[in-house]
Amino acid sequence: MQPKTSLSSDNKSSYIWAIITGLLSSSCCIIQLILNLFSIGCAGFSVLTPYRPFFLSFTAILIIYTITKYGFNSKRTLITLLISILLTASPELVSLHNQGKIISSTNSKQIFVREIETFVVQINGISCEGCANRIKAQIDSKPFVINSKVYFKNQSAIVSVKLGTYKSNDIETWVKMVDFKYGAKVIQQYIETIEEE
Ligand SMILES: *[C@@H]1O[C@H](CO)[C@@H](O)[C@H](O)[C@H]1NC(C)=O
Repeated sequence: MQPKTSLSSDNKSSYIWAIITGLLSSSCCIIQLILNLFSIGCAGFSVLTPYRPFFLSFTAILIIYTITKYGFNSKRTLITLLISILLTASPELVSLHNQGKIISSTNSKQIFVREIETFVVQINGISCEGCANRIKAQIDSKPFVINSKVYFKNQSAIVSVKLGTYKSNDIETWVKMVDFKYGAKVIQQYIETIEEE
């Protein structure tokens, strides 16, 4: 009998399953974010999205199994739970970031402006939150962009820039530069004046 080795391989396997089911439940959102770092295009993990409820049940089963096996207060259970929840919720977290609801260093740019021009852009072909995130990063990298929000759900973006710096077709071009498969069209455009405090 070798209880130690069998226990440790069992432990590892519960983490591995947490990672696998978590990644699948998230339609590989985290993998897409990593691909973005290396400027690799959208990998089309969105084929997994329709199966999300199915993978979510697997994740739930794994969590229940881990809790019954190791108890609620064990380190094993906590780590498995943490991995599963973070991975599974990653598309929602990325979505909040894409909508500018989680503050990031890129959208805390200090540009002093009194007039902002806002463009509403219809973007066809965004296949997941990870891909939307790549578009947002590209838009935010432009010096006179004040902020941007990219919506995977309705395939659009709202981009605010310093007045007079960019035109509709600049923004359409940036999106195309991320990937030529995207169709980008500015459908609305307006100017706002900000009151000085
Ligand atoms: C997409 O949804 C967001 C928030 O739900 C909204 O503000 C935006 O205007 C929508 N875009 C279009 C093109 O309707």
